[in-house]
Amino acid sequence: MKYWRLQQRAALLVLILLLDAVLLGSIAGVIKFRADGSVEAAAEYPSEPKMIALTFDDGPHNIYTEKLLDGLKKRNTRVTFFLMGENIEGNEALVRRMHEEGHLIGNHSYSHAKMTDIKAEVVCEEIARTGELIDNIVGITPQYLRPPYGDWNDDLECQLDLTTVFWTVDSLDWKLKNKKKIVRQVVKKAEEDSIILMHDIFPGSVEAALEIVDTLHKQGYTFVTVDELLID
Ligand code: NI
Repeated sequence: MKYWRLQQRAALLVLILLLDAVLLGSIAGVIKFRADGSVEAAAEYPSEPKMIALTFDDGPHNIYTEKLLDGLKKRNTRVTFFLMGENIEGNEALVRRMHEEGHLIGNHSYSHAKMTDIKAEVVCEEIARTGELIDNIVGITPQYLRPPYGDWNDDLECQLDLTTVFWTVDSLDWKLKNKKKIVRQVVKKAEEDSIILMHDIFPGSVEAALEIVDTLHKQGYTFVTVDELLID
């Protein structure tokens, strides 16, 4: 009699432990319940989306930037534009559209000056003038700066509290000029948290950019603006 009770207790304990494991497993996503009532162990934990950022310098361009915006809108994809002040005049509608469609607008100086070759006060002027032009259109002064040629020196006095943003993948679009070659160059080098450098002033770059979005999207990447990558 006593022996039987012990067996019952042991069986009850095993049952409780099993139930616990199943409950914990389903909470953690390791065990899934199928529609027919059977149980399967998930092959892997659900993973976080891989983030990546496309950035476009030297625009806006009255033809190619518009094409790019159209293509990005279709793909519900947001990118970052580093604008040159001297290209803004006449393209105000495009700048407004960038902002309205959720893209991030950054500063790429007024005349594409090489920052370490000019006086700090001229650097200041270049950046401030471009920031003002953008602010006049969208009501926000850009907080991110991409120095032309990636040329920057921390000793430059006027940093205007801007965050400088460089890149980790160079599309070489200005040199390759060929859609297929640009796509190959970027897809080959892209990885999680990459910041990809492109220019929306060449037709090949815009075509390539849209194909890059499609290709990397299929590989599980989520496109974000650079501020989202730089937060953590
Ligand atoms: Ni540039």
